[in-house]
Amino acid sequence: MQKWIHRGIPAIAFLSLPIAPMGAFAQDRSQVASPDGRNVVALTIREGGLFYTLKRDGKDLLFPSRLGFMFRGAPSLRDSLRIVTSTRSSFDSTWTQPWGEVAKVRDHHNQLRVTVQERNTRARKFDIVVRAFNDGIGFRYEIPSQPGLNDVVIMDELTEFSFADNPRAWWIPSDHPRLDRSEMLWSSSPVSRLDSVQTPITTESTDGKTFMVIHEANLVDYPRMFLAGIGLESRTLTAALAPMRGGAKVSAKTPLVTPWRTIQVADRAADLTPSVIGLNLNPPNAIGDVSWVKPMKYVGIWWGMHIGTNTWHSGPKHGATTAETKRYIDFAAANKLGGVLVEGWNIGWDGNWIDNRNAFSFTQPYPDYDLPGLAAYARSKNVRIIVHNETSGGIENYEKQMDEAFKLYNSLGLDAIKSGYVTDTLSGGHSHYSQFAVRHHRHVLDMAAKYKIGMVVHEPIHDTGERRTYPNMLSREGARGQEYNAWAGDGGNPPEHESILFFTRMLTGPMDFTPGIFDLMITRPEGKPRGAFDPRPRTTLAKQLALYVVLWSPVQMAADLIENYANQPAFQFIRDVAVDWEQTKVLEGKIGDYVIVARQQRNSPDWFIGAVTDEQARTFDVPLSFLPAGKTFVAEIYADGPGANGITNPLPIAISKRNVTSASRLTVRMVPAGGQAIRLHAIN
Ligand code: NOJ
Ligand code: CA
Repeated sequence: MQKWIHRGIPAIAFLSLPIAPMGAFAQDRSQVASPDGRNVVALTIREGGLFYTLKRDGKDLLFPSRLGFMFRGAPSLRDSLRIVTSTRSSFDSTWTQPWGEVAKVRDHHNQLRVTVQERNTRARKFDIVVRAFNDGIGFRYEIPSQPGLNDVVIMDELTEFSFADNPRAWWIPSDHPRLDRSEMLWSSSPVSRLDSVQTPITTESTDGKTFMVIHEANLVDYPRMFLAGIGLESRTLTAALAPMRGGAKVSAKTPLVTPWRTIQVADRAADLTPSVIGLNLNPPNAIGDVSWVKPMKYVGIWWGMHIGTNTWHSGPKHGATTAETKRYIDFAAANKLGGVLVEGWNIGWDGNWIDNRNAFSFTQPYPDYDLPGLAAYARSKNVRIIVHNETSGGIENYEKQMDEAFKLYNSLGLDAIKSGYVTDTLSGGHSHYSQFAVRHHRHVLDMAAKYKIGMVVHEPIHDTGERRTYPNMLSREGARGQEYNAWAGDGGNPPEHESILFFTRMLTGPMDFTPGIFDLMITRPEGKPRGAFDPRPRTTLAKQLALYVVLWSPVQMAADLIENYANQPAFQFIRDVAVDWEQTKVLEGKIGDYVIVARQQRNSPDWFIGAVTDEQARTFDVPLSFLPAGKTFVAEIYADGPGANGITNPLPIAISKRNVTSASRLTVRMVPAGGQAIRLHAIN
């Protein structure tokens, strides 16, 4: 009957399971501390309401914050509550990611399970499960089936986050349905000024000594969570769930288990990465052997559509032709980049493809694209074609065709899809982030796993760690990527953008940012490079290279037209850089200003360093003490060159080599909007 309780937790790994009904004390208070004792969560009943608090080193981080639900057709579950039982357990095990930003992940936490019940005649019950880790906490609700709560329609989850301090928060707005793509510029302001924001938000305390990240993990059959300020100058944020058409948030049968609400905590911004709480709060791999899921770099018929040299639709500038795709496959093979993305290969792009979403076919190629022939050609060259599936938010149209389409791809040996959901509202009038959409994305992942296909999702739901359960969930967009630097309109991404992404969006998981633009002045169809105020990336060439390390992804694009890589010594870095990591170490970092990160390639002694700065020039003296002692490495350094400036003169790059050991130091000098990329190649 209680089967739902330990879902996803291997019971064998519990070190102890002391069942401790806590007598009179348990009536109103129960707490749990992280293994190092620093983070303490307490659950308390106050005037019949259930609240939690979070302290670190004895200091309040969150004041009493309410928990509970509002339903349609049933009274709210939030008043006249008492704590019935409390149990604690401990857990410590280490698991290995098939691919990722680190190979080994330790899941070390103490758990508290509290059963709460109404004192009135309804006597409805639910559990709160809290896990306290050294790097933060997670908690979730579990509502068992019971009279009065068998079918539930949740209108609001009442979870609050009441900050003790008024920290500065980095955020993007949530404004359904206009901004349902997470592709906004980041802002920062005191928590008391927040209106309605997306998670993750990252906060820095007023004394600069505590960083917190609020997000969620294991989002399954439930809407995405936003955070809403509750009024002028209040430091309390409440959970706000994305609605389905008609306004309901969740429609479900109990037992119901919510996603985890996660609060990562660190003493320094640099300590937020690698961020593994979300992974630890997802169930282990559920799809069996995933040796077929392969990280890779890729080029693609893509940037040309964004800068206007090609079209997705048919006609004289059609990008996805057989000849052009072969040219890309040959290039990928010659440079040992694993993949080629092809957009605009399938029927449906002619006319207004955003409005005509039901016209997309996911099996029918344009006549000038030889789908089976190119699949075979790519296979013969050991290159993998990434099949593009733009849905424009036409969920029914996609779901109708998915089984047949994925079966076709599988039969042709095509094992990677980039999907897209460009639209403000999904078909049926649902939010991009509603329970309806969450169900859809899980359905796609299941289907992709069945046909051994890896997914890269654009305009996705934010990452809540599902790559642990579904390692075929390779990467996603879910933030402003490079594409904004191709478009006129809002001026592209500012120089600080990537050093904000690193401490916010990237804490949730990999991003398909699409770095690697080399023609940084962008030679457009009319032939002439545009001036400084036309759309183009505001970064130096060295910064474009650094992004491969800073903004990690198991599928990492070399996004420029391939002809722009000809005769470019800097392209060697893209050939060499890894996409799967053993370890990740942040060497320096300040949110929105700069970051320097070192990552060790998986199954290799080699390391890579990526450094990026905002509009300020900066110089760092970086000790290489993270390297193993006694080994010599060649440092291949790609630095901003003489006169380089990301805004006015992006191209100069200085490439140099020197031998280094763990005792060496490197001077990392970056110009405005610049960066530096370094390969540390072991030679003994
Ligand atoms: C937006 C995606 O981010 C981009 O990568 C893609 O090319 C277009 N949609 C078309 O699907
Ligand atoms: Ca996009």
